[in-house]
This record gives sequence, structure tokens and C-alpha cells, in this order.
Amino acid sequence: MASKYDVAIIGAGAAGMMAALTAGRRGKSVIVLDHAKAPGEKIRISGGGRCNFTNIHAGPKNYISQNPHFAKSALARYTPSDFIAMVDRHGIAWHEKTLGQLFCDDSAKDIIRMLLEEMRAVHVDLRLSCEISEVGKGADGFRLSTSEGPVIAENLVVACGGKSIPKMGATGFAYRIAEQFGLPVTETRPALVPLTLDPNLLGELSELSGVAIDADVAHGKTRFREALLFTHRGLSGPAILQISSYWREGDEVTLSLEPGVDFAEQLKTAKRENGRQQVQTVLAQHLPKRLAQYLAETAKLERSLADLPDKALSSLAERIRRWPIKPAGSEGYRTAEVTLGGVDTDALDSRTMQAKSVPGLYFIGECVDVTGWLGGFNFQWAWASGHAVGENI
Ligand code: FDA
Repeated sequence: MASKYDVAIIGAGAAGMMAALTAGRRGKSVIVLDHAKAPGEKIRISGGGRCNFTNIHAGPKNYISQNPHFAKSALARYTPSDFIAMVDRHGIAWHEKTLGQLFCDDSAKDIIRMLLEEMRAVHVDLRLSCEISEVGKGADGFRLSTSEGPVIAENLVVACGGKSIPKMGATGFAYRIAEQFGLPVTETRPALVPLTLDPNLLGELSELSGVAIDADVAHGKTRFREALLFTHRGLSGPAILQISSYWREGDEVTLSLEPGVDFAEQLKTAKRENGRQQVQTVLAQHLPKRLAQYLAETAKLERSLADLPDKALSSLAERIRRWPIKPAGSEGYRTAEVTLGGVDTDALDSRTMQAKSVPGLYFIGECVDVTGWLGGFNFQWAWASGHAVGENI
């Protein structure tokens, strides 16, 4: 005998749990199915174990989608303050780290505990280690064949995430369900991901591995000012992760190191005041020593300032202000924090997340073609889209 529910949700991640507790509060019978052993595994590891659970500045401008208007409705109806209110109700201490990013003081596990408590309070049936082999639709609703037996539900919410970090159970199952029901899926690619360099450039930059610096990183007109990290594979750090969502194979990104410092002015003043100083010594007043050394060395300017024409100093300053680099690729889904692209928003109702052509079928969270910037925006989308479903199902 199949178990019957008002709502079946595939995926006990951020979006699925939010949808479950919201629908449950409205008296719906809800089952959440997940093949993982534990719920909210990505919440657990997020934000270095402290979960950057929202961003107080979250708005549609912080999301990438083929339809930049799609996320507006859900984001407006469930805001960062709404989530903060729930966090406060559970007595979870938090702090703002930087740029509006809110983190738990103690542990990301507090957020998972909170969501589970909220689900328990409204009798959500959570089934873990549950494999789903088939999804279909019949006269009595959606039918799921699962390792726990058949499940029938009037509504099916697909909240099983994207393709990022397959090691953590990401499967791309949501896209297959979308396609099965005739919904288009836009091109998917790893996003918020470190960029790699070709072996020649990597060899040249190898001595910089581990160097971190404040930078402005640009791709076309899009730019982010955050930390940049040189690694043994290429480039990483928040500024690079952000730009990776815009970068495409074959494109350049432009680095501007310590963008607040006028290096041309600094070098010329230093030359005037103490011409015996070495170029790298002046650069090292604002840049990490190894980077200062590298820049002076590769510009072949490891000399006293007095021996160098102003023009050479200006070109060096220009290199620091506009350093074009062509990444070879990215680290891919293995380390990408999110998947760009997904279920085409044209096929979904932006207020309810319901598939326009399949009544009762909903897609939320990362599997939808709405991808946030780094900094708590992706969880805010998961909460908001989960809430939109829960309120309207
Ligand atoms: P999510 O991936 O969380 O959940 C999907 C669920 O579906 C999982 O539980 C999975 O097991 C299950 N599932 C998948 N396939 C299935 C199948 N075939 N059958 C059954 N179940 C299946 N964002 C942010 O805002 N702040 C942050 O601090 C971070 N930090 C961060 C760190 C790291 C390392 C990563 C990888 C990602 C982040 N993110 C983040 C991004 C954030 O984790 C992501 O946007 C959300 O978890 C997406 O929530 P979803 O519920 O949509 O998917």
C-alpha cells in the first residue's frame, strides 16, 4: 500500500526543509525524501562550519538568471529579516562578518537543528537514506517508487539541488525530473569556483601560492572587490569565486591589486624622496613581500628607483592596476559552491514556483536557474523559494 501525502519533497536541503516546515504549518501532510544519511549536509559545511545563512542586503541584483526579474517575487515575500526572526526565536547567536553576511556564532549545525525542530513541530515525515528510482504522475497524483516503498502525493516539490560537489550527494536528479515532464533546463556550469591556470603561467606564479590580497577582479563590466588568493592550482578567494560565475572559457579576467593604492604616485614620490630604495621595497609597503618581489622581477625592475625612468615606474603601476589573466578553466563541480543555470524560469510561476505546464509540480532552490553571489545569497534564495512553495501549495 502506498503512503499518501499532500506534499512530497525530494531533497532535505535548505530549500526542501524550508518548504516542508512552511507547508506543514499550514496543515499540509508532508513527506521529505533524501538519499543522504543526514539532512542539510551543505548547510553543515557552509561558511567554514558557521553557515553564512543570509545577507542583509539580498535583492534581485545579487542573482544571475536568464530572467533577472524571476526571483523578485519570492525574495520580496521572504526577506533576510524573516529568516533572522526564526533564528532569533531559536536563540541562535549570530554576527555580521562583512558586507552584510550573517554567520552563526557557534555552528552551522544550529541552523539544521532549527529547521528540524520546526519540521518536527508540524509533523513533517522525514525519510533519509531513501533512494528514489522513479517519479510518475497518475490520476491520484505523483507516484514515487522509493527504497521505502511507494509514495503518492498530490504535489511534488523538487528540491534536490544542483550538480556541485558530487561527493556530497549532488546528482543533477532535479534536471532529469524537469526533462521527464517536458520542462526546459538552461545550460548548467560550475559557479563560485576557483579558476585554474595553464601550466606555464602556473609555473611562473608558483612562488605566489598562498599569497592573499585585497583585489578588484573584473570580467567585462562586472567587478568584485574582495580577497584574492593565489593557489597551487591557480586563483581563488572570494573575488575569484564571484567572478567565476560570469567568466567563460577563453575569456580574460583583470586583476587590480590593492585598488585603493596609487602605485604610480607612491613609486614616483619614493624616487624623489629616497632614490636608493629598491622598487620591490616600495611595493612591499602595500603588497605582500613575495608579490612585490615577483612584480619587480617580472618587470625586470629589481633596481634602485633612481636608476629607473618614470615611464618604467608608470608601466609597473599600470600592471598592478590592470593585470589581465586568462584562466585555463575552473576546478569544476568538484569544488564549485553552486551550479549556474538550471530549470528554466520561463517554465515556472515566479510567485509559487509551480511548473506552468504541470499542475502540482514545483522546483525550488539551487536546481532553478537562479544563482546567487557568494555571501549568503544562495541560502536566502533557498529559504525564499522554499517559503514561496510552502505558502502556496
Ligand atoms: P542542497 O544541495 O542543499 O540540497 C539538496 C538535497 O537533495 C541534498 O540533501 C541531497 O542529498 C538531496 N538529493 C540530491 N539528489 C538526490 C536524489 N537523487 N534523491 C534524493 N535526494 C537527493 N550558500 C550560502 O548562502 N552561504 C554559505 O555560507 C554557503 N557556503 C557553501 C559552502 C560550500 C562548500 C558549498 C558546496 C555551498 C555553499 N553554499 C552557501 C551554497 C548553498 O549550500 C546552496 O546554495 C544550498 O545548499 C542550495 O540548497 P538546496 O536545498 O537547493 O540544495
